[in-house]
Amino acid sequence: MSRTIRLCHRWLAPVFIVVMIAVLSTQGSAIGPIIQRIQQGMVLVFALSGLYLFAMPWWVKWRRGTKNSTQHAARHERDAA
Ligand code: HEM
Repeated sequence: MSRTIRLCHRWLAPVFIVVMIAVLSTQGSAIGPIIQRIQQGMVLVFALSGLYLFAMPWWVKWRRGTKNSTQHAARHERDAA
């Protein structure tokens, strides 16, 4: 899942550059607003996938941490019994 998101983020990067050039070169023309709309959509996809990539390391660490502390507590309970 996270691999897929990273791949999407990576491969959308060059597409985003092309869209950006298209936005600049179609300013003022009839298709300008349509391409701008596409760019806005892509920014949203980038922001969400980027946020995911940014938060993932902490999320994984936090999950590992809680798992370990649960095991730790379980060990204490077992030892005390
Ligand atoms: C709000 C927008 C964005 C956010 C929050 C964001 C965030 C991130 C984060 C957190 C990473 C992972 C860095 C790491 O490995 O530690 C990443 C990777 C990357 N980002 Fe973005 N990004 C954004 C927009 C963009 C845009 C506009 C482009 C290019 C047009 C771009 C291109 C890339 C590329 C090529 C990578 C490397 C992906 C890989 O490891 O395969 N990002 N980004």
